[in-house]
Amino acid sequence: MNNERINNVIFLHLLLLFVLTIVSRGHAHYSLGKEKVTHLHFFFQERLNGDHPTTVLVAKPKDTVISASNTLPFGAVYVLDVPLTEGLDPNSKVVGQAQGLAVSVGQDKLMVVFMVDIGFTSGEFNGSSFSVLSRNPILETNHRELAIVGGRGKFRMARGFAEHHTLTATTSVVVVESNVTIFHYE
Ligand SMILES: *[C@@H]1O[C@H](CO)[C@@H](O)[C@H](O)[C@H]1NC(C)=O
Ligand SMILES: *[C@@H]1O[C@H](CO)[C@@H](O)[C@H](O)[C@H]1NC(C)=O
Repeated sequence: MNNERINNVIFLHLLLLFVLTIVSRGHAHYSLGKEKVTHLHFFFQERLNGDHPTTVLVAKPKDTVISASNTLPFGAVYVLDVPLTEGLDPNSKVVGQAQGLAVSVGQDKLMVVFMVDIGFTSGEFNGSSFSVLSRNPILETNHRELAIVGGRGKFRMARGFAEHHTLTATTSVVVVESNVTIFHYE
């Protein structure tokens, strides 16, 4: 190669590097739009038995017995797919689903950790969902708070909290009111 060709090769490499730098800078400046705050209000309608339970036991420690009076011993893992309704009445309009896991994590005291996707099937947020990954101290029936750590669709980059209030808790039905405050991008 003569000097001129070597210079040309170096020039082309530098040009490529320059273009790649600009392209990657462009990605770093990806814009999310304006942040906004949304409040949501809905009810979890859990059915623990019958033909179509919304919540099923999938794992438990080997020698632990699960009974009606001991449904959440340490180590029990439940999968849930719970309809979310607009109103307190279980026959009111279904607006979405809570799908995920509830794990009993307390050795000495009852504690549940929730890993649940809250997805909407109607209204402004149809097709969007947010993620709850949080302790869920279900014994605090009047007021407890769960962390919202992310989301999809209209809930991209979401963070916030859900305030829960247990309205009914029998061996077959659990109804929980959820008031959500969520920060996300349009
Ligand atoms: C929600 O979105 C799905 C998928 O885009 C669509 O099929 C459905 O009709 C929508 N439902 C409502 C109630 O808007
Ligand atoms: C949830 O919000 C509703 C309506 O905004 C309100 O009536 C209710 O008292 C709230 N409940 C809790 C537990 O914060």
